[in-house]
Amino acid sequence: MSDRCENALLPEHLVQDAAAGRSLSRSRLTRRSFLAAAAASALPAMSRPAGAKARRVPFGGAIQIEYLDSDPAYSRAFLQHCDIILPMNELKFSSLRPTREDFNFAPADRLVDLALSNGKRSRGHTHVWWNALPDWLQSIGSAMEAERELVRHIETVMDRYRGRLESWDVVNEVIAHVPTRDEPLRDTYWLRTMGARHIPVAFEAAQRADPSARLILNDYDLEFSGDRYDARRAIALSLVRQLQDAGIRIDGVGIQAHLYADLKIDVEAVARFGADLKALGLSLIVTELDVIDWNIRGGPEEQDAAALVVVGDLLDGIFAAGPPDAVIAWGITDRYSWIPDVMPRRDGTPSRPLPLDADYRPKPWFDLIEARLSQGV
Ligand code: G3I
Repeated sequence: MSDRCENALLPEHLVQDAAAGRSLSRSRLTRRSFLAAAAASALPAMSRPAGAKARRVPFGGAIQIEYLDSDPAYSRAFLQHCDIILPMNELKFSSLRPTREDFNFAPADRLVDLALSNGKRSRGHTHVWWNALPDWLQSIGSAMEAERELVRHIETVMDRYRGRLESWDVVNEVIAHVPTRDEPLRDTYWLRTMGARHIPVAFEAAQRADPSARLILNDYDLEFSGDRYDARRAIALSLVRQLQDAGIRIDGVGIQAHLYADLKIDVEAVARFGADLKALGLSLIVTELDVIDWNIRGGPEEQDAAALVVVGDLLDGIFAAGPPDAVIAWGITDRYSWIPDVMPRRDGTPSRPLPLDADYRPKPWFDLIEARLSQGV
């Protein structure tokens, strides 16, 4: 996508703030069919032996408080397999802010304490999102008042966890689902109320509130082949450049990696995306890895084989520009996932979205992740 077109994708005043676009660097990709064949021969499922050697790239998982007490194996699995454990929902605006006056930190505190007290790391998800917004917030109509509330929220939350959450998805899913030249950004409460400036405002507040935290722009559908995905990657790059040109710190881009097992990962495009971000001083982090297998015919074997391909291709693209900050799954076991509720398999059989199956057994594609993250290349 040409720079002119790429920069034209964003609201004019954001483009005016930006310096002239730089050309996307063209990195020659060395395609690594790393372990895909070996893993396809279904390496014996192995759980991570206690005291296993540290991974070069951390693996993480998003945990949900509602299963902690009802299923002791659930938290055990996170403690056994994860270097990073983050609250899936408990640091979202609607979880933290039942009313305008109150902050409800208890659920998030419990999950962050579970991680840190067991020698794990943790991160924050998320301040700015179109979803998980309380009604009282959406009744605020003035830009100034919304900005005051957003800054107060970010400052209060990041002050509480300063030094304990190593990175934050400062903004989440701000790129339009299907971007157009006139509407590159998603139509959200924040955009409608504050305009696109809510993005720099959020990053600026986050930088002030916890200078030690890495600040991430997080989004989905950045992994696949096709014009819509190319456009979303280009907009992400433009947002990064415009924040930097405005002198605002951003440290990385979160690729959510909700991988449709029936779609093609654009390995070269993901590699180029990572190289272009690296040229701007940023890194990639895989933030919400799971596999959507609703269109895969057959049973567990076919589901896992299809998952192995998309996960392997994603890792090829991600690692092409160097090791990511981390690879984080959106859960840990098929027993608990958002996917069967939202995208159930066409034949009604169970989805297999996560690294461990419903009986907490690792899948071949988790073995591939283990091998890749241990090697760090
Ligand atoms: O905690 C309440 C509970 O008290 C109540 O009884 C119950 C029934 O209403 O709802 C519970 O809250 C639910 C929450 O998950 C915790 O289970 C919310 O209704 C439900 O909407 C929420 O869904 C989460 C969703 O984000 C919206 O926040 C999913 O678990 C979570 O996997 C999903 O994650 C998102 C990422 O944040 C952003 N990227 C996409 C990803 C998948 O949609």
